Amino acid sequence: MIVVPGPASQDLGRKVADMLKSKIVPVIFKTFPDGESYLRLDGDIKDEEVVIVQTTGPPQDVHIMQLFLMVDAAKHLGAERVTAVVPYPAYARQDKRFLPGEAISIETFIKLIEASGTDRFLTVNIHEEGVLKKFSIPAENLSAITLLAEHFKNKGLAGAFSLAPDKGALELAKEADKVLDGGCGWLRKERSRLTGEIRVEEKRFNIEGRNVIIFDDIISTGGTIAATVKMLKTQGARGVYAACVHPLLVGEAQRKIMQGGAEEIVGTDCVPSPVSVVSVAPLIAEALAKTGV
Ligand code: R5P
Repeated sequence: MIVVPGPASQDLGRKVADMLKSKIVPVIFKTFPDGESYLRLDGDIKDEEVVIVQTTGPPQDVHIMQLFLMVDAAKHLGAERVTAVVPYPAYARQDKRFLPGEAISIETFIKLIEASGTDRFLTVNIHEEGVLKKFSIPAENLSAITLLAEHFKNKGLAGAFSLAPDKGALELAKEADKVLDGGCGWLRKERSRLTGEIRVEEKRFNIEGRNVIIFDDIISTGGTIAATVKMLKTQGARGVYAACVHPLLVGEAQRKIMQGGAEEIVGTDCVPSPVSVVSVAPLIAEALAKTGV
């Protein structure tokens, strides 16, 4: 197996290759003056199983295009099979049409991945797991929540309450609770379609004097977590921590959450960021090794 660490996941790709003791084929890449991407796979991959690791966090469209260019180039070089490991899959949050004329962006993303020649798709905590059924190539979703929860347990936070900031994240909180064992719950959240503003429904939990860890798949603007942290602090929580798989941390997200009273934000390297302290490399390497890519 040969691992190609894409421009957006250089460190993670290398870690995965090290764990699998696989050869790396590097990508030479640059941006043309007009903004287009150039890349070249620098090695022999003929008849090989090739794993391309490329996340699609901001700037999403550039990273997606680079992914397509890498898959296509790998096919042209004669790769036997190409697995796209996309730790953060962009465009996954719109999986329904709310208004006529809207694109269901995850469907478009899937069609384009398949059209690029990808033979197999692997991702981590995709926003809505049900969308995997829309793939016609094998597609697998891994979960980094246990790794995140173990990180907190190792910091002495066993017994903390695991909270989902919305119903969609409840499975994440339940998974974390298997490690932390302090109980779990969820909130109801509304986002204004007009302003994007978040409103978290007031709900009381038995958390006075206790540590609470909020688990979500994505932190984008930080609005969801900041509003949740504030509510938990008014209920007397001792320390409130934010954990997410995909720390997009757009604009002032980090500042907003910390000013709301959070102790810390912890994310994974699905999206490289200043808070990406938990690596998903073991998770990805294990999945690749198991299926013998
Ligand atoms: C949405 O349902 C997701 O799970 C996250 O809660 C959301 O993307 C977070 O966005 P923001 O950080 O902008 O509130």
